Formats: sequence, C-alpha cells, structure tokens
Amino acid sequence: MPNYGFTDEEKLALTMLVMSWKKVNLPAEYIPVKKTTTQNAQMDKSSSAQTASADLVKRGEEIYNQKCTACHQIEKKLVGPALKGLFERRKEDWVLSMILNPDSMIKNDPIAKKLYEEYNVPMVIPGGITQEEAKAVVEYLKTATK
Ligand code: HEC
Repeated sequence: MPNYGFTDEEKLALTMLVMSWKKVNLPAEYIPVKKTTTQNAQMDKSSSAQTASADLVKRGEEIYNQKCTACHQIEKKLVGPALKGLFERRKEDWVLSMILNPDSMIKNDPIAKKLYEEYNVPMVIPGGITQEEAKAVVEYLKTATK
C-alpha cells in the first residue's frame, strides 16, 4: 500500500468513516426499530405537553415581572401582600378574579375587602391585563409561590 502521507488525525477519521459504512451494512433485523419508535413517540408526546406548559409558565413570569413586581414580591410584603403560599390560602378562581377585576373584588369580596382595609392601596394593574395573560401569570404563580 502506497504511503498517502495521512496524519494520525486523518487516519483516525478514515477509520471512523469505514467503520460507519460497516454499520450501515448491518442486517436490518439487528436494528430494533419498532420498539424504539413507539417508545419515542410516547416520549415526544408527553415532553411536548411539558414544553407547552413550560412556555406558559415562562410567559407568565414575563408578565408578572412587567405588571406585578412594582407592588408584589413572593417572599416579602411590599405595596401588596407577599405571594408566598398563595394557593394554600386562596382558590385558583379567586386569584384569577383578583387579577382580572381587583376593583370589584375589593368592593364585593369579603377577603379582598379585608386586604384592602389592611393595605390601603387599591390593586391596579398598569396597562390592564387580558384573560389569557392573567391565566399565564396564575400558572407561573402556582410554581413560584410554593
Ligand atoms: C399598584 C400595586 C399593585 C399591582 C401593580 C398589583 N397588585 Fe396585587 N395587590 C395589591 C394590593 C395593595 C393588594 C391587597 C388588596 C388591595 O389593597 O387592593 C393586592 C392583592 C393581590 C392578591 C391577593 C393576595 C392574597 O394574599 O390574597 C393577589 C393574588 C395579587 N394581588 C396578585 C397580583 C398580580 C398577579 C399582579 C400582576 C398581574 C398584581 N397583583 C399587581 C397591589 C398591587
């Protein structure tokens, strides 16, 4: 065999290439196709559901940082209450109503009324908030206030 003057690195690369050809030539029945494809399909399904809810939480976090942090912190009381443990003391629907209609909650809901008497500032969301944004914030708060 003539000396082609390959470097060690090139020899290694060529060896890898030839080995990869061999791999392609393996008999098809050596490759466990069926099992892994169904397993992967199931994994893809659940991980895409996870990604969707992770996206919602991330969006909620952005909205929270824009619209809530002027008055709220998770751990500390600020203009409004600390939000730590929120879902242990309030129902999800209540929180959603508080975010979407704080003024009518302060007027009509006994708990919100009490909070307002305590904090003396009406909760107002700067620039308002849509239902869809409020839901994303709730998803974020569910994980952040635990
Ligand atoms: C201008 C300040 C301010 C902003 C901005 C604000 N809040 Fe509030 N929030 C308050 C105050 C003050 C209270 C207590 C009730 C009251 O006085 O209106 C409150 C109460 C709450 C409560 C009830 C807490 C409890 O312990 O039951 C929740 C939940 C809440 N806010 C969530 C939010 C979310 C989420 C945002 C952003 C989308 C937000 N707030 C924006 C001031 C604010």
